[in-house]
Amino acid sequence: MRVMETKNYQELSALAADLIGAQLLLKPRCVLGLATGSTPIGAYQRLVEGYRAGRLDFSQVRTVNLDEYCGLSGEHPQSYRYFMEQHLFSQVNILRENTHLPNGAAPDPEEESRRYEALVESMGGVDLQLLGIGRNGHIGFNEPGDSFPPVVHPVELTESTILANSRLFDRVEDVPTKAVTMGIGTILKARKILLLAGADKRAILEEALTGKVTPWVPASVLQLHGDVTVITCREG
Ligand code: F6R
Repeated sequence: MRVMETKNYQELSALAADLIGAQLLLKPRCVLGLATGSTPIGAYQRLVEGYRAGRLDFSQVRTVNLDEYCGLSGEHPQSYRYFMEQHLFSQVNILRENTHLPNGAAPDPEEESRRYEALVESMGGVDLQLLGIGRNGHIGFNEPGDSFPPVVHPVELTESTILANSRLFDRVEDVPTKAVTMGIGTILKARKILLLAGADKRAILEEALTGKVTPWVPASVLQLHGDVTVITCREG
């Protein structure tokens, strides 16, 4: 595991975009695993800048996101599809048919989970998976629990995750209570993993990287993966 520490969030974002950009240059038709949330926004901005400057080309890239809320269609402003459109897809030359997230509007989340796991598999697996980390150590929507979920699956969100995410909704009651997420097993199959953690996540990051590997700190499982890069920063 490589842990890189930058001075601040701007540098963290620039470094993350450099590593993702390098992946695009090395393998233009790569599969990128993407994350939503506050942390990767700066890296997405840098990737957009790289595209506008003519340094990056997304025309062959394929993407699979980690997760999506259940009950929100892709047009809903709080859906993760909408987030990806806003921060990356609509601003670069990626083909929409090459971008994938679980379908939040699917009537049967179990069936949607099976479809999404098979889709990731059929794409030949993920070359580079971008991750954030929750304050409770979650990755994707894999919350602390007594096992590591192996495959894509529906989850009931914990109270703390609903509260953390409510900052983006008008009212806490509007936050969906369910999501479909890649499992820990799905995430670990990625050939490379890039975990971004801002200064506010230093305590949980420390615990995940140096503590015991346990499903009660889901990100601790990354200690078992052979190619993980972590970027963190000293100040916001
Ligand atoms: C997002 C995701 C989550 C976030 C995590 C950190 O697709 O799966 O695990 O990465 O909740 O979120 P932020 O970056 O908002 O602190």
